[in-house]
Amino acid sequence: MKRLFFIALCGTLALLSCGEEKRASADERFAEDGGISFEYHRYEELRKSLVSVWLQCPTISRIYTIGESFEGRELLVLEMSDNPGVHEPGEPEFKYIGNMHGNEAVGRELLIYLAQNLCNEYQRGNDTIIELIHSTRIHIMPSMNPDGFEKAASQPGDLKDWFVGRSNAQGVDLNRNFPDLDRIVYVNEKEGGANNHLLKDKKAVEENTKLAPETKAVIHWIMDVPFVLSANLHGGDVVANYPYDETRSGSTHEYSASPDDVIFKSLARAYSSLNPIMSDPNRAPCRKNDDDSSFVDGITNGGAWYSVPGGMQDFNYLSTNCFEITLELSCDKFPPEDTLKMYWDQNKNSLVNYIEQIHRGVKGFVRDLQGNPISNATISVDDIDHDMTSAKDGDYWRLLAPGNYKVTASAPGYLAVMKKVAVPHSPGVRVDFDLESLVERKEEEKEELLDWWKMMSETLNF
Ligand SMILES: *[C@@H]1O[C@H](CO)[C@@H](O)[C@H](O)[C@H]1NC(C)=O
Ligand SMILES: *[C@@H]1O[C@H](CO)[C@@H](O)[C@H](O)[C@H]1NC(C)=O
Ligand SMILES: [Zn+2]
Repeated sequence: MKRLFFIALCGTLALLSCGEEKRASADERFAEDGGISFEYHRYEELRKSLVSVWLQCPTISRIYTIGESFEGRELLVLEMSDNPGVHEPGEPEFKYIGNMHGNEAVGRELLIYLAQNLCNEYQRGNDTIIELIHSTRIHIMPSMNPDGFEKAASQPGDLKDWFVGRSNAQGVDLNRNFPDLDRIVYVNEKEGGANNHLLKDKKAVEENTKLAPETKAVIHWIMDVPFVLSANLHGGDVVANYPYDETRSGSTHEYSASPDDVIFKSLARAYSSLNPIMSDPNRAPCRKNDDDSSFVDGITNGGAWYSVPGGMQDFNYLSTNCFEITLELSCDKFPPEDTLKMYWDQNKNSLVNYIEQIHRGVKGFVRDLQGNPISNATISVDDIDHDMTSAKDGDYWRLLAPGNYKVTASAPGYLAVMKKVAVPHSPGVRVDFDLESLVERKEEEKEELLDWWKMMSETLNF
């Protein structure tokens, strides 16, 4: 029903813009790719392209902004979901962030094309895409650093400087600007302490003058939405990079495994394996002297490549339930426009496949015995020292590689419940937890005791 309605609506809109349709059909390549224009989009064009996706697919999309850049450009997000604007209980949330380094432009463009492609395929009745959009809330932010992009794009000619536009307009490198939670977790590993949700003081974020407005806006976003999986898109090399990015010892190169190393490798491979360039074992390094010795199958541990303190990837993992990897998509940071179609072809299957990984592992609800949701319950897995928490509706998601696990749900005032779970590769398994409150347990015990006393007194006749 719902689909019929929106096809009718889109038909109406297509009529309104039939002038453009004609021009499009004249250009064969343009038509073949469903009206995606493989060119760079400056700020105004980016905004227009997102609006055009929304106009074409209004029932499954929404545009919103999470704040403004230093120079006042909006940090725009296109959401795609069967219920835009709403967190549906149990439905996992995904995000892609592009262009946090303003001069790394390929990711920005690929995310615009992806939004257009998801809308086109949904309308064409592509079952994979329909299923994905019905089961996932997808947030796409093509540019986290629109000021830097404008600066980089303003340079004349095809050849762009390696650094111009990397930072935001204040000169802040946004991928070094996040609170350094790695340092905290590394101390806690030694001394005993929390292994998750380490950003305790949200007010301190507000008052921290070192944080760029773009960083602050993204921190609020990350903390507010129950994201499960994410990637942030960069350029300058070709690899899928997973946590930790910052090394334990502080040395420049050192494999820095997170407690979720196994699933992180699998997630990074889910991206690299479908990108023929990234996964090519014989790919020459981007530049002759580059050290790619940590790259295996197109993936690398962040710290093993080079240590990054204050990065966004580790911040996601250590402050929330969200697993993020960093994707390097092109040797050239700002390649000539006529290569963009090629980058899309290299990445389009990976971009969709990576979103689908969100449905792996274990997910479900934590409730009390009356069926009320328990939010902020702890979900822990034996042998993986990194706990998740349940969201507002008691819903939780725990990405896991295939295997047998003991999963425990606990919350203050409740009896913890442990379940043994066999996790296949995909899709994941649903496991719900019903927790008995300790107050109820005490009442029950009291009643049992009273019954016992009654029985005893009757038996013994006193
Ligand atoms: C549907 O979309 C997926 C993901 O982009 C793609 O691999 C597949 O070929 C599409 N199916 C059809 C029938 O076009
Ligand atoms: C969530 O639970 C943890 C541990 O049970 C607690 O320390 C924290 O304050 C809780 N957070 C909220 C927002 O209730
Ligand atoms: Zn970068």
